[in-house]
Amino acid sequence: MIKNIVVKLVLITLILAVIAIAGLLISGQVTGTNKIEELISAVKNLINPDQEQETVNSGPLEIQYNDKVLVTLQNSATFTLKSKTELKESSSAKYQFNLSQRPKDEDPYYWYVVKINNIGVGEFNIVVVLEDVNGSAGEITVKGQRDAYTLPFGLTEISDWDTFSYTADGDSLRALVDKQNKLPLDYEPKQLVDVNKDLLLYTNSSLPILVTAETGDALKVMAGDLQRELNKNLVIASGYRSYLDQYRTYAGWVRQYGQDEADKVSARPGFSEHQLGTAVDFVDQETGFDLTNNFENGAAGRWLMENAHKYGFVQSYPAGKDSETGYQHEAWHWRYIGIENAKEYKDSSLTLNIWLSQNR
Ligand code: DAL
Ligand code: ZN
Repeated sequence: MIKNIVVKLVLITLILAVIAIAGLLISGQVTGTNKIEELISAVKNLINPDQEQETVNSGPLEIQYNDKVLVTLQNSATFTLKSKTELKESSSAKYQFNLSQRPKDEDPYYWYVVKINNIGVGEFNIVVVLEDVNGSAGEITVKGQRDAYTLPFGLTEISDWDTFSYTADGDSLRALVDKQNKLPLDYEPKQLVDVNKDLLLYTNSSLPILVTAETGDALKVMAGDLQRELNKNLVIASGYRSYLDQYRTYAGWVRQYGQDEADKVSARPGFSEHQLGTAVDFVDQETGFDLTNNFENGAAGRWLMENAHKYGFVQSYPAGKDSETGYQHEAWHWRYIGIENAKEYKDSSLTLNIWLSQNR
């Protein structure tokens, strides 16, 4: 009797395993049944698709990258690749490696941003060959898709600024993102919270506004103290914007005002602090819930200027600093950099981007 049940259980398990393997093969997640590591990795990916994965087919190289499908609106796509050893410059015209940071402190990785060029339209599958300075080699396959998007009149592509570096580690509170420092397409913050639903704060958008969990905690305390002291509510108008959201936002500004004007007020995709999930735009009732520099003459704006740093928030685009920051003054745009960093920053007389460039 018990033997029968055990036999049946073993049979059911075997059948389920066969179905799972067949499912993975059909869904294209595994390309060879004898590649057992690939199978384990694919199962892991099914259970937790967002996890960063060790590659399985990169030979003796120790690398990490997030192998999800790269969706782009541009003719190029970028993703972060970390390697325990220094990689050689690629000689392929299809992709380039850009070193973003070298191993430091507790982090043993070289961080690269890999740029895939000349994507064309539709799906793409590119084999990226890797070789390190010691001669170890391997390869990864990058999957992606370029969706159609109609750009405003006069634009055929939203190009990068002529001179810039990549900031691969957007999770760092000291990540530098300005007109000379760009996040890759695939950078997204790890843990995001909904400002209205999770934090019970006011927003002026029908769509969810998200920020990182750490930014949210600080925001909740700051908005609460401001409310208690002034009897006024801070209203959040904007938080996290993905690379693609920023692409559409910037294109919208170009559509309305032309590229020269857009560049004074809106960041090109990858160049926005909003992609970090730590930048927020505030409005309030006193200024008609508009994004206006009059905000800082009102009670809430003045309170922020005096107190925000105590909660870890600093202003990214102060008045009269356009040439340093690259943007017109934005009284509403604040970025969370952590309390210690904010206090240290406040003692400098620098703009945030210059301070970050000296204190990363
Ligand atoms: N308005 C700021 C510069 C942004 O687009 O990120
Ligand atoms: Zn902003």
